[in-house]
Amino acid sequence: MAHILALDQGTSSSRSIVFNEAGEMLAIAQQEFHQHFPRPGWVEHDAMEIWRSQLTTAREALAKAGITAGQVHAIGITNQRETTLVWHRDTGEPVGHAIVWQDRRGEALCQQLRDQGHEALIRERTGLVVDAYFSATKLAWILANVPGARDLAQQGRLAFGTIDSWLLWQLTGGTAAQGALHATDASNASRTMLFNIGTQTWDDDLLALFDIPRSLLPEVHPSSHVFAHTHASLFGGASVPIAAMAGDQQSALFGQACFTPGLAKNTYGTGCFLLTHTGGRRFDSHNGLISTMAATPSAQAAYAQEGSVFIGGAVVQWLRDGLQAIEGSHQVEQLALDVPDAGGVVFVPAFTGLGAPYWKPHAKGAILGLSRGTTVAHIARAALESIAFQSAALLQAMAADIRAGGGTEVSELRVDGGACRNDLLMQFQADLLGIPVVRPQVTETTALGAAYLAGLATGVYAGLDELAAQWRVERRFMPTMARPQAEALMQQWQHAVSKVVAD
Ligand code: G3P
Repeated sequence: MAHILALDQGTSSSRSIVFNEAGEMLAIAQQEFHQHFPRPGWVEHDAMEIWRSQLTTAREALAKAGITAGQVHAIGITNQRETTLVWHRDTGEPVGHAIVWQDRRGEALCQQLRDQGHEALIRERTGLVVDAYFSATKLAWILANVPGARDLAQQGRLAFGTIDSWLLWQLTGGTAAQGALHATDASNASRTMLFNIGTQTWDDDLLALFDIPRSLLPEVHPSSHVFAHTHASLFGGASVPIAAMAGDQQSALFGQACFTPGLAKNTYGTGCFLLTHTGGRRFDSHNGLISTMAATPSAQAAYAQEGSVFIGGAVVQWLRDGLQAIEGSHQVEQLALDVPDAGGVVFVPAFTGLGAPYWKPHAKGAILGLSRGTTVAHIARAALESIAFQSAALLQAMAADIRAGGGTEVSELRVDGGACRNDLLMQFQADLLGIPVVRPQVTETTALGAAYLAGLATGVYAGLDELAAQWRVERRFMPTMARPQAEALMQQWQHAVSKVVAD
């Protein structure tokens, strides 16, 4: 059986997982790294620390699986998206910390672009809304603020990349002299706000708008592609094909076997990311969502609609660390089960503004509907429900767009991420949506997607049908709530949102 090594570089930790070709997990290694918050609203990572932690976990996972790198058929990379980094081509040294997707420092430039009326062009070319979340304003900030960066960029001596590009560069030698490869894939490129998702190329008009020299940019390939081989110095002389790269949410969509229009997944992590495959067609949203490139096994473009919730599972962390209502995140379900419902309490966790479909960067969180009878259990239940409400708002917005565009509607939601283990939350999600919520046997779908994409590029799998057959249901949550009740709850939620947005 072939072994595939997936490198899953996330926002809070680097993980490496060894899969066999049946998609079973053989070994996993994980390492957290530091988060840097130099100013309010800024979030940075040390790219060297990311690389070291990723390499360490890769070696550890191989050791745990009892195999050598020489026995690895292929490597697939998946990564936190949008996080932006610039490094020197000759030394491989970053010019500074990576600016993380959560970082808001690009907001002033975004506002300027909105005021100048560039939103329509940006949306038409990239499928994105103008927001500091994406890479372009982060890259512009680096060129404007890191001493010497613009001059060096103009001389072609710097490289820009998202984390996939950075890992590829390091895995292939780390310097230009060692032959390091500077490349990315279409799913990551589509998060930069510089990539034309229609023509599948870097967009000259956008490069001019953001004043980005073209020489900074990586070459772009399909997600499933033999990019290069690992440098001999890293894994005891082994030269392993690096055969996939994909942004983590698109990778999870792939790992959930969502290959055709109307198949959708939601990842319940710190935030929530809901993606619906829309096939070869883009559905430009009139309801606050974005269009993005799906990861594909070939150069043929496929798209997804995406909505992101900034505070998902993080609301449970707040119950633990901020409110100190629980000692561990796992206690939230038990506490919430102490009451039959939230007792009219609605919790809008807009701690960092509200993401899709609202896009209200300045909104603040609120707990509404308190009475003398409200207990901490009601608040815990409302906190959990807020994750489902926000996700339901995304799916409703998607359904409206897809219906208007005559596309295939979503008939079930596949789920993954840490909080999908919470049965209460999953049942409430199904009740709100009125469609089944389906939890697969393997919920490490982000890494699995990268492994599948790498396996496809190197002949381990014949095609998508084989992968779809490997995807298996662990539990299906069927909606049981009467629709009028679910609709009334959604209205109560929207009313609460309108309060925090108006303030
Ligand atoms: O767009 C940001 C997303 O890719 C981050 O994912 O799992 O690292 O929080 P994660």
